[in-house]
Amino acid sequence: MTETRYAHITGWGAYAPPRVVTNDELAQLVPTSDDWIRGRTGIAERRIADDHDFTSTMSTKAGKRALEVANLEPGRLDLIIVASATPDHLMPSTASMVQNALGATNAAAFDLNAACSGFVYALSVASSLVKVGAYDTVLVIGAESLSRVTNWTDRQTCVLFGDGAGAVVVEASDQPGGVLGYDLGADGSGGDYITIGLGTRNPIYSDVAPVSDNYIKMKGRDVFRFATKIMEQSTRTVVAQAGLEVDDIDLIIPHQANERILQVAAKRLDYPLDRLFSNLERYGNTSAASVPLALVDAIEQGRVKAGDNIVMVGFGGGLTWASCLVRWAYDPEEREWSSWRRGVRWTRGRVSGAKNWLNRADRRLAAMDDWLRRRGDDGRMNGRGGGRRLVGRGRPSRS
Ligand code: UT7
Repeated sequence: MTETRYAHITGWGAYAPPRVVTNDELAQLVPTSDDWIRGRTGIAERRIADDHDFTSTMSTKAGKRALEVANLEPGRLDLIIVASATPDHLMPSTASMVQNALGATNAAAFDLNAACSGFVYALSVASSLVKVGAYDTVLVIGAESLSRVTNWTDRQTCVLFGDGAGAVVVEASDQPGGVLGYDLGADGSGGDYITIGLGTRNPIYSDVAPVSDNYIKMKGRDVFRFATKIMEQSTRTVVAQAGLEVDDIDLIIPHQANERILQVAAKRLDYPLDRLFSNLERYGNTSAASVPLALVDAIEQGRVKAGDNIVMVGFGGGLTWASCLVRWAYDPEEREWSSWRRGVRWTRGRVSGAKNWLNRADRRLAAMDDWLRRRGDDGRMNGRGGGRRLVGRGRPSRS
């Protein structure tokens, strides 16, 4: 009989660039005020990446922290998924860049773009791949550099967004719990509600599209209506799938878009607002990074305990939505590893790294072997130094 596999979150980490931009600073750029921004959104400040930080570098920093908590060497990762709407490039993928930066030489890597729902989409994909036995260890990252696509003269958007990254490690286990289920959805008919036009439809070598199309744009009121409706609907769906009631959920970690969205959703779900986690005040809307940034904050504030039922729910561009129900299995404080356990994990990492090095060396030797055979070096060996003359002429004749 095959053993049931579960997909647990065993590590977590976040990175927010150090530069804090307050509402008052923005009020010097555009006609706005701290009062308006706080009152309409709940945001007090956001982090903005400096010239050396990109989606890939922030992802790598968050990923490293998650690996430390999971006590895993990068060589043990099977897969890296980066959820982002602001990748470094169209190609290579940000996930490939992270794979290289981490030295995760055994990992496959791909990007996933489901805008603000991206991290929860990626967590659903990762947990499914783990549960079916395709992979044992996956690093899931949500990261954004929204400041690079923000129009700093548009007060309707520039006050909302920020940069950052959050990551989790998903590992296979036979211990029940972990990611219990998910609900994913999309409604492309609302694709024009939130856009970043940059891409091959707006080619950089012609002027078919005005440059302003490349910035992030949003029909705020329409998105607000969608967000409040879908947050309730998707949360109810994922909870019902697991045979639970909304009240069985200990903590909801929603996409951090607007404090008022959380208030309306809490009311619709008949759920206490203080169990809807929010860190919007400090980071603003960081799209795919917002749920993992909030998860890590919640853990660090002691809001997550072993046995808790947690719903993570995202919604946004696409339009897309996603929710995941996780039964948390590990007490975050128990992630303080004993030195024995750390030692064993470290050694396994080294063994896996050595195996990987040997595999690569073997592949190179095989290629060299093949090349030598094709250039007729068998003949050179047999012909005692006459090989040079035989290049390209096939094997030497014995007659
Ligand atoms: O991450 C993806 C999901 N995103 C969301 O879920 C965001 C959903 N939408 C929202 O959170 C809200 O719609 C916003 C925060 C974006 C906007 O709030 P709102 O209450 O919907 O404002 P509004 O766009 O209806 O604008 C109200 C007024 C307008 O002035 P008038 O036309 O009433 O004279 C705007 O021009 O506020 C004005 N306004 C501002 N005033 C000061 C818009 N932006 C600003 C600003 N400062 N930054």
